[in-house]
Amino acid sequence: MRLKLVLSALATVALIATGIVIFPACSSGTDMPFGEQEDIDFANALWSSMSGYHGWKLASDFYPGVSPHGMFLRMYYNVVNVNGTAYHVIVKDNFGGEGLDLEMLAESPGKYLMAVTAMLQREAAYDADNNDWFWVKYGPDGTIDQNDQGMSLAGRVAKGMDMGCIACHLTAGGGDYLFFNDM
Ligand code: HEC
Repeated sequence: MRLKLVLSALATVALIATGIVIFPACSSGTDMPFGEQEDIDFANALWSSMSGYHGWKLASDFYPGVSPHGMFLRMYYNVVNVNGTAYHVIVKDNFGGEGLDLEMLAESPGKYLMAVTAMLQREAAYDADNNDWFWVKYGPDGTIDQNDQGMSLAGRVAKGMDMGCIACHLTAGGGDYLFFNDM
């Protein structure tokens, strides 16, 4: 009787152990929602297509930002051609720096540019759960940013996770993942 109990306890432990071994193997497969080679390639192609975006006609003034974006922000909109297809894209410059104010920023914006975040609406079914948005975070020089795990922040960024681009933008009014048109 006692032996039986011990055996079944051992079997349970073995099952749990196997589960633990199998789980990370599955989740590190090739179907990650972001940071895959194709996401990186698309983000790099987008950066090239965005070249000169500071001169786009549809741009906001500098305005105070909220976390996690910069102390000051500037938004740009255009239709860009990436790999032969036209896409709507919204680009946001994120500025920050010690004691930064509007005057300092207007004088030398490039000095305070910390990151460039963009949302681009991909073809239907790219991410049907989330309005088909492609998300990317670049450094000021166009290098794709990475998270703590070394995953590139490009693609369906942090899909299914509690924090990140999608989770936060999901709370924007109107279900369009956009905040600027809610004000
Ligand atoms: C914790 C919440 C949060 C997270 C995480 C977040 N954002 Fe935002 N984002 C906002 C808010 C709030 C605004 C509106 C801020 C403003 O313009 O004043 C915004 C604005 C934007 C805009 C301008 C369009 C709009 O919605 O108004 C872009 C583009 C953008 N974010 C991209 C990203 C990307 C790419 C990521 C991930 C790398 C990201 N955001 C992560 C909250 C978040």
